[in-house]
Amino acid sequence: MTRNTRFELEQADIPSAWYNLNADFPEPLPPPLHPGSKQPMPAEALEAIFPRNLIEQEMSAEKWIEIPEPVREIYALWRPTPLLRAVRLEKALNTPAHIYYKYEGVSPAGSHKVNTSVPQAYYNQLAGTKRLATETGAGQWGASLAFACSLFRMECNIYMVRVSYDQKPYRRMLMHAWGASVHSSPSNLTHYGRKVLAEDPQCPGALGIAISEAVEDTVSNPGTKYSLGSVLNHVCLHQTVIGEETIKQMENAGEEPDVIFACCGGGSNFAGLAFPFIRKKILEGKKYRIVGVEPSACPSLTQGELRYDFGDTAGTTPLMMMYTLGHDFIPPSIHAGGLRYHGMSPMVSHALKLGLIEAEAYHQTKVFEAAILFARNEGIVPAPESSHAIAAVVAEAIRAREEGKARVLLFNLSGHGLLDLSSYESYLHGKLQDV
Ligand SMILES: Cc1ncc(COP(=O)(O)O)c(C=O)c1O
Repeated sequence: MTRNTRFELEQADIPSAWYNLNADFPEPLPPPLHPGSKQPMPAEALEAIFPRNLIEQEMSAEKWIEIPEPVREIYALWRPTPLLRAVRLEKALNTPAHIYYKYEGVSPAGSHKVNTSVPQAYYNQLAGTKRLATETGAGQWGASLAFACSLFRMECNIYMVRVSYDQKPYRRMLMHAWGASVHSSPSNLTHYGRKVLAEDPQCPGALGIAISEAVEDTVSNPGTKYSLGSVLNHVCLHQTVIGEETIKQMENAGEEPDVIFACCGGGSNFAGLAFPFIRKKILEGKKYRIVGVEPSACPSLTQGELRYDFGDTAGTTPLMMMYTLGHDFIPPSIHAGGLRYHGMSPMVSHALKLGLIEAEAYHQTKVFEAAILFARNEGIVPAPESSHAIAAVVAEAIRAREEGKARVLLFNLSGHGLLDLSSYESYLHGKLQDV
């Protein structure tokens, strides 16, 4: 073998601290507002749904937050994750670009989401929480929280968006295997779910509706707290282990990325890879282009408005300053590729507003075309969500070929798609349409 294509780190290299970009933003992040008073949200007001230790992280301006040892020990089940160079994809595209990917699909739940579900369960257990409530779309987040709750012996109650509950049974089964309870959302277990069902008994559900149900469940059940798998500052914070490891691995590969890509749903895997590189942009004057890639069917970054909006459909969460399509936006149900959230992480939105990052949107047929190309050359069947980043990488690699200019591309392969094969089957049978 003449060259290394796989860059591994030792367990001792698992980061010892999470990186908080809020310490380095050139302008402060606008605060969340109370939905009633429209004044900045006091920390105590969040205690109805989150434990105090996570609220402190949410509001922290500390640059580094130490990762507790019990969390690092669990991270060691799958971290550090590998960085690979996609030499076969480069060859298939006949591109002078070098393509690297950080692979988060090696985790027990198959995606990056466990990087935050584990610390969230840990901090909740420390705070005395007995039960966590959450929502999930295609099931990646629900499965990740179910896994973390099983390790910390906590109950886990999950509202799963109805289309996915019906069409994607395997992650529901995975959640059951880890001991969680899973309900199709809208459900008849909450006032809000019953209201939505009364208006539209066939409602396919949406993440915003499932969030409203999980929040209602939390405030009406003592000992329960709410857990969110994306969007919030502390979730982005926990994901920065991805980028911190990648910086070391790129050094070991002897290259610096020119362009960095990750898909964007609520923004957390993007934040995880990008924020440590944004630090280098701000503090070391690096010139990376950093691109968030979203579906054309749910284009909050490229078509949304930057304004205060609710995180859920019912309008019960704090108002966050973010790029949003409106909290009542429901993505078309023919869209198979995940990433169905109406808004975007306030931190990712702020980075876009400040010009530190860019955004692109792709239609789902292009996304699956890129996913198949990747699978047939690199072997891994990527999660449909992650494949948005692959579509953008392929387009950039083709531009490099056309311009005859080499460049180093890096992307986050946030999960595998082995439980998303029905979407692949639909694509391969020509059943996916663009909206
Ligand atoms: C594999 C994978 N990647 C990306 C996402 C999008 O979420 P986020 O933008 O928070 O990373 C999801 C969402 O469930 C996912 O399962």
